[in-house]
Formats: sequence, C-alpha cells, structure tokens
Amino acid sequence: MAHVQSDAFLKWALPRMGLAWPGFRRVRRQVVKRIGRRLAELHLPGMDAYRSFLESHSAEWETLDSFCRITISRFFRDAAAFDLLAREILPRLAEVAIARGQKFLRAWSAGCASGEEPYSLNLLWKSTLAPRFPKLALAIVATDADERVLARAHTACYPAASLRELPAGWRNAAFRCDGRLFCLKPEFREGVEFFAQDLRREAPIGPFDLVLCRNLAFTYFDAAGQAQVLDRIGAVLSEGGALAIGRKERLPGGAKGFAPWIAERGVYRKAAVSSVPANAASASRRMSSARPV
Ligand SMILES: C[S@@+](CC[C@H](N)C(=O)[O-])C[C@H]1O[C@@H](n2cnc3c(N)ncnc32)[C@H](O)[C@@H]1O
Repeated sequence: MAHVQSDAFLKWALPRMGLAWPGFRRVRRQVVKRIGRRLAELHLPGMDAYRSFLESHSAEWETLDSFCRITISRFFRDAAAFDLLAREILPRLAEVAIARGQKFLRAWSAGCASGEEPYSLNLLWKSTLAPRFPKLALAIVATDADERVLARAHTACYPAASLRELPAGWRNAAFRCDGRLFCLKPEFREGVEFFAQDLRREAPIGPFDLVLCRNLAFTYFDAAGQAQVLDRIGAVLSEGGALAIGRKERLPGGAKGFAPWIAERGVYRKAAVSSVPANAASASRRMSSARPV
C-alpha cells in the first residue's frame, strides 16, 4: 500500500520538475527514503499531506528536487566506454584538435557526481594518451547541481567500492590509501575544474571537443528536458565534437544535429551543419549563475 502511495506521488510530482517517472522506477526507493525523512521533519503523516504541503509552499519544490538527484557513480563506470574513449574517440579528437592548432583538448562532464567520471577521463588521458600527444593538454570542466557531491569531488577521496572498475594496477599508481579511503594523487586532479550548475537551465562556456552526459538527462529528464539538453550540448560542442551518453540511454527526437559515431556504444558527433537553434546557443553562453566550487 505504501508503495502504491509513493509511486502515485512520484508520478504526480516528477513531471512538475521536468523529470520522468520511467527513469526513476528502478531507483525510486532512494527518493522515497529521503522524502520519508522530510515527512518526519515536517511532522506530516504521509504522501497525501506532503502533496498538499507542496501545493501551498512553492519553495518546497526545490527541496523535493534535491531529493530526486541520483548520485550513484564510480571510476570507469562502464569500463567498455572508457576503453572506446582511449582506443578511438580521444585519439581522433586529439588529432583534429592538433590540426586546428589547439593547445587544449576540452571536455565537459555533465552531471559529474563526486568527480568519478571527470577524474577517470583525466586518469585515462594522463596515463595512456598524454605521452602520444605531448603538445596537447586535456582540460575538463565538470558540472553538477548537487553541492554535496561537488564538495566530495574536491576532497577526491573515495571508498574502495568506487574503484572496483579501475584497470588493474591503476589503484596504486593513482591513489594513496588514507585509512579506509583512497585519495586521488594531486597530479591526476590537475586539469579538472568543478562548477555548480543545473543542466536543465545552463551549460558551461564552450566550445568543447567532448561532452560526457551519462546517466542523467537521457534517463531522468522528461522528453522536453531531454530535447533542450541536447540543443544545449550541441550549442557548446565544436564541429565534429563527440557526445557520449550512458550505456542504456538513447538520444531523443531522432538525435537532431548529431550523427552516429559509434551509436551502439552511445557515441555521437555533432553533425557538420548544426540544426541547433540560435536561442539555445545564446542561453548556454549566458551561464552567469554558474559558480566555481
Ligand atoms: C547517476 S549520477 C551519474 C554520474 C556520472 N555521469 C556517471 O555516469 O557515473 C547523476 C548526477 O547528476 C546530478 N544531477 C541531477 N540532476 C541534475 C541537474 N538537473 N543538473 C546537473 N546535475 C544533475 C546528480 O547530482 C548526480 O551527481
């Protein structure tokens, strides 16, 4: 019965925040647990009472929105995707960047959680590709809406479980064990900048050669939100730049403005003639509320 009530509540509330129930179905327990704690704090008897509370306290929507952030991540999550980045995507992007006279290969990790994804990319670059492209540096911008996970990204210390997909030997090479946590060595943190940003509203200033948007927009956002995010990414990607999405995700609406690169692995590139609307480009340039953290 409790399940039925909480599912009904989520089906009512999620679309009001631009979020999609199907994406949350599997992970709803986490969200419901957080809401349960909030009900106790507010001395409310159940989901129906919380719904009434939301209807009369508009500021509460922001609190509920923060309960709906699924922050699961780990280093080299979906190791095959990082293998593909190392073998094919990054070398090709690096060659193009060098041909264009760039000193930096620029990447954006959208929804970076506690830094596991951008630091994995940095580790990959520094350990395997930097020696091959000595004149090119990797610069990574990492954004997330959740200040708590960003604080952890700055500390860069993780439990062993976060490192379970790390290639053999890299744990000792890149981390120092600090009691029960593994802390990333400073040389592998260099080159990654974190910003607090809501992907539904803004993007960092581009251009980027690579965008990783995995296990966020194309799982949890509603159809309109997904389309907007795709436009926003298209607006900050350089011509021919790559977009990598999660293993189980699909691009919305015929992937407008993108062409498959290795589509079966969720890798696309910005199509030569962009169909990104001008207003999406200017919206991403505004970025005024982005705060470095
Ligand atoms: C499931 S994690 C994915 C992390 C990483 N990309 C990966 O694949 O392992 C989703 C992350 O997106 C963040 N997030 C949720 N909603 C967001 C939003 N509207 N804007 C930016 N980040 C958001 C969450 O805080 C969380 O850290």
